[in-house]
Amino acid sequence: MPAVAVIGAQFGDEGKGKIVDYIAWKYNIAAVVRFNGGSGAGHEVVIDNRKFSFHQLPSGVFMGKKLYIGEGCVVDPELLFKEEIDRLNTENIKPDLHISDNAKVVFDFLREIDAAEENFRNSHTSKQVGSTKRGIGPTYGFDVARFGLRMYDLVDEEKLRRKLPALIRLCQGYLKSLGSNYLIDVAKTVEKYLEFGKKMKPFVKDVRREVNDIHNNGRVLFEGAQGTFLDQIFGTYPYVTSSRTIADGVYGGTGLRIDKAMGERIGVFKAYTSRVGAGPFITRMDDGMQKIVRDKGDEFGRSTGRPRAIGWPNLVELKYANERNSFTGLAMTRLDTFAGVDPIKVCVKYRDEHGNETDEVAADVERYEKNKPVYVELKGWGELEKDGWARIAERGYEALPKEAKSYVKFVEDYVKVPVKIISVGADRKSTIETARLNI
Ligand code: IMP
Repeated sequence: MPAVAVIGAQFGDEGKGKIVDYIAWKYNIAAVVRFNGGSGAGHEVVIDNRKFSFHQLPSGVFMGKKLYIGEGCVVDPELLFKEEIDRLNTENIKPDLHISDNAKVVFDFLREIDAAEENFRNSHTSKQVGSTKRGIGPTYGFDVARFGLRMYDLVDEEKLRRKLPALIRLCQGYLKSLGSNYLIDVAKTVEKYLEFGKKMKPFVKDVRREVNDIHNNGRVLFEGAQGTFLDQIFGTYPYVTSSRTIADGVYGGTGLRIDKAMGERIGVFKAYTSRVGAGPFITRMDDGMQKIVRDKGDEFGRSTGRPRAIGWPNLVELKYANERNSFTGLAMTRLDTFAGVDPIKVCVKYRDEHGNETDEVAADVERYEKNKPVYVELKGWGELEKDGWARIAERGYEALPKEAKSYVKFVEDYVKVPVKIISVGADRKSTIETARLNI
């Protein structure tokens, strides 16, 4: 059956978790599959007014869906248990989790390297990436260099004992060259991860085959982590994550056969923009305006607690995201959070350093960040009384304030992709569908 991919169209934190949860519930999705990233991601789901933050687990835990972590992902066994599985177990929830034997293992010392790399960048280039320090970059890096360990190594005592000491030796030297004094205890680390290998074993398997099999008879949802502008190749390099965040990562990150139908590629974007970590952010609001939206929307990183920078809507970037992902539909989130802001400044092009108009998203980030935004002002929509948005969601699209509908239409006309889902609150019910998904 046609599958659906849910992809971040901005800098991550677009509200993908909520959209995934909604689609999984509404469309009888059989399996939710992650294809990229690791514990740096933060997806939040609100069930019965209880907030759950997930980092590595795909959304859909509460619906008893089959959950898959594909080979494009890095998995940190220590944080997976500590932050997610153990908490769910205390609530008597046992996720139906399956992890690719080919996914990459994040070790504690790779987190140390992540932090040491940031310090090194700070001292030698004065430009940090703003990484989540969860070992994502170093794990992918050592994997590409063919020194990393995969899940099949972690769950096999002989392999772990043979391969892990070599990686540690290499990493110890690397830590030193980064200026870090951190010492890795080889024996203790091997023993620690042997224990995690035992705990992980029941989850580890050939996810490639299972996902392709499920796709034959059921609906599969591929859940992206981070967003298009954090893609390792097409994002604002080097201020990016180390995995493929865009739609083509679905195939490379799960082993889904390329002739398998994808019914929808849904690009999720917030009514405004936000960014956490370093890197260009052309439509950044002034501090006062940022604070208003940040406080109202609780815009703080789920994995790191860092305040997110807040910006005006940027349609130049949304158009670029569509060019990289070929979205079949968009999902706009946080329409309710943006209420009360008037006028809304919408970026429709840039003025480059020579004063010329452009809509190019330059690969060279130093050139890209010199662009100045050119805005069109649209009328904002007002605040509603308590439960106002939930009541609108019940009545559907036509019930939205007319200014909000004009904004939606403006985005659709610019990007030339229909907005199929509009989210006006954190829970499932606060969702408006303007068109049925083709899945
Ligand atoms: P890393 O993935 O931890 O190496 O971080 C690289 C960049 O991606 C940094 O700017 C992070 O702040 C950003 N980043 C990583 N994960 C997320 C996410 O889930 N949402 C938003 N930004 C993220």
